[in-house]
Amino acid sequence: MPSGPDNLQVHVVHHPLVAHRLTELRSADTGPERFRALVGELAGMLAFEASRTLASSPTEVITPMGVAPGARLAPPDPLVVPVLRAGLSMLDATLGAVPTAEVALIGLRRDERTLTPSSYCDTVPARLGGRDVFVLDPMLATGGSLSFACAHVRARGAGAVRVLCIVAAPEGLAKVTADAQTEVWTAAVDLGLNDVGYIVPGLGDAGDRLYGLLAP
Ligand code: PRP
Ligand code: URA
Repeated sequence: MPSGPDNLQVHVVHHPLVAHRLTELRSADTGPERFRALVGELAGMLAFEASRTLASSPTEVITPMGVAPGARLAPPDPLVVPVLRAGLSMLDATLGAVPTAEVALIGLRRDERTLTPSSYCDTVPARLGGRDVFVLDPMLATGGSLSFACAHVRARGAGAVRVLCIVAAPEGLAKVTADAQTEVWTAAVDLGLNDVGYIVPGLGDAGDRLYGLLAP
């Protein structure tokens, strides 16, 4: 599976500050409040890396001492799409990194038996007109949810699609990057999936660790 250096669409952010936070995040001893804070901090770092290729235009800015060369992000404004629930935890930090971004929501629930996602929320505009899109979800497991979300924004006219996730399985990376215009930034590529579709070693159920168990 081309998830390593051979897959140019996959960017694993190797950085000691990422590794330190990811280690604490993975720990079964980390509680929800700290877990949310860590996901946010990691999301900001991934967003910074993933924004490196955003288009910008040169400009000038008047400082108290004169005129300095500058740059502004070029239109159209990017769209950030967190995949509910767990992707919400990455939203504020991504907006902090990409100040011109707007937000639309996709709500997906993975069936625990079939592992296929079903949609319960969609506020993505009908026509994206080539806008770049950041799709957020901390977990890329089978890739069913994120490939659904990416295909959806692509069908609505997205430009470049950048996926930000915290932990990815090779199976999910292969599925999502089957679309040659989708790139993924992740803090880690793990070994694979267990027999119930969870990432190993992973960090467990991200949505539950962030926001608690869903009522049956
Ligand atoms: C989790 C996770 C991803 C998906 C990953 O969400 O946040 O969206 O599963 O699995 P996949 O790659 O096999 O599709 P879940 O459906 O549990 O919903 P939640 O975020 O509301 O907890
Ligand atoms: N969803 C999660 O939250 N964790 C996994 O390991 C797989 C899917």
